[in-house]
Parts: sequence; C-alpha cells; structure tokens
Amino acid sequence: MAISELPLRSKILKIKITMASNRTFTMIKPDATSRNYTGAILEQICKAGFRIVAMKQTKLSAEKAGEFYAVHSARPFYGELVEFMSSNYIVAAILEKENAVEDFRKLIGATNPANAEEGTIRKRFAQSIGENAVHGSDSDENAAIEGNFFFSGLEKY
Ligand code: CMP
Repeated sequence: MAISELPLRSKILKIKITMASNRTFTMIKPDATSRNYTGAILEQICKAGFRIVAMKQTKLSAEKAGEFYAVHSARPFYGELVEFMSSNYIVAAILEKENAVEDFRKLIGATNPANAEEGTIRKRFAQSIGENAVHGSDSDENAAIEGNFFFSGLEKY
C-alpha cells in the first residue's frame, strides 16, 4: 500500500521505521584514553564523515557506569564492566552523519577486537572484548537515551 493511502498513525510509524537516524552516541573507553589513543580515534571518526555534535571528557563513578550499562546487569561480565568503565577517564560524544548508528558500528568493528575487520577502530586500538576501546549505540532509541545521559540540550550543537 502506498504511504499516502495509510491512516495518519500508521503513516507516522512507517516514516519512523524507514527513516535512518542521523545521530549516534560513543564513548572512548578507559583503556584507549589511558593509552593516549583519543586523538587518533577522533581523527578516524571525523575522517569517516561524522560531525561532533557534543563532546566531553569525564570520569564515571562506579554508580554512574552501572546505571549506563544497567541493561547488562544480569550478565556475568557486568561487575567487571562497571569496574573497568569507572577505572579512568572517558570521552563521551554525540556524532552526526546519515545512517549514523549503523555506519558507526561498521567503523568500530565487532565487540570482540579479535573478530573485528582490519582497519576498524577496535581492530586498531582495542585489546579484548572487555577493554574494547570504544562504545557505539546499537539503535536509534538507545543513541538518544545514551546521548541524553551525558548531555543537556544546551550542550548539543
Ligand atoms: P559496548 O559496546 O560498550 O557494550 C557493552 C559492553 O560490555 C561491550 O562493549 C564490552 O565492553 C562488554 N562486554 C560484552 N561482552 C563481554 C564479555 N563476554 N566479557 C566482558 N565484557 C563484555
């Protein structure tokens, strides 16, 4: 059925589903910041065509890291993840580009750097599945939630 023939509610839903988001959220994790890879990672992100909408360097408390990764609280690696993410400073950023979530996940590569493609950020800079250099949102909805976790409306340009 053509979109023009759909009732308004279905039309809005269809547009939402078909429209790729243009924003994603990332963190450069403690393993990468402490090894001084922040500049090289940001360079690769910008060269891939992402615009930085908001960015800050900060350190998560264990409580805040636990809150950010609450969705993984039942997983066996949750304690280790929270400890690692609060072990040193991180760089959080909202990024903009057409098809941002999917394109950014391609750019960073598989969660486990051992399985990541050559040239991806995790292949170049990550050490293990737990210490994997960068985070990238897995959906448009989570990109918005995660971006709002770190940035107010006034901090997004
Ligand atoms: P990230 O993309 O930030 O999302 C969840 C994180 O959990 C993931 O990257 C990894 O850092 C971590 N993680 C996922 N699977 C494992 C695992 N099997 N062991 C340890 N950490 C993991």
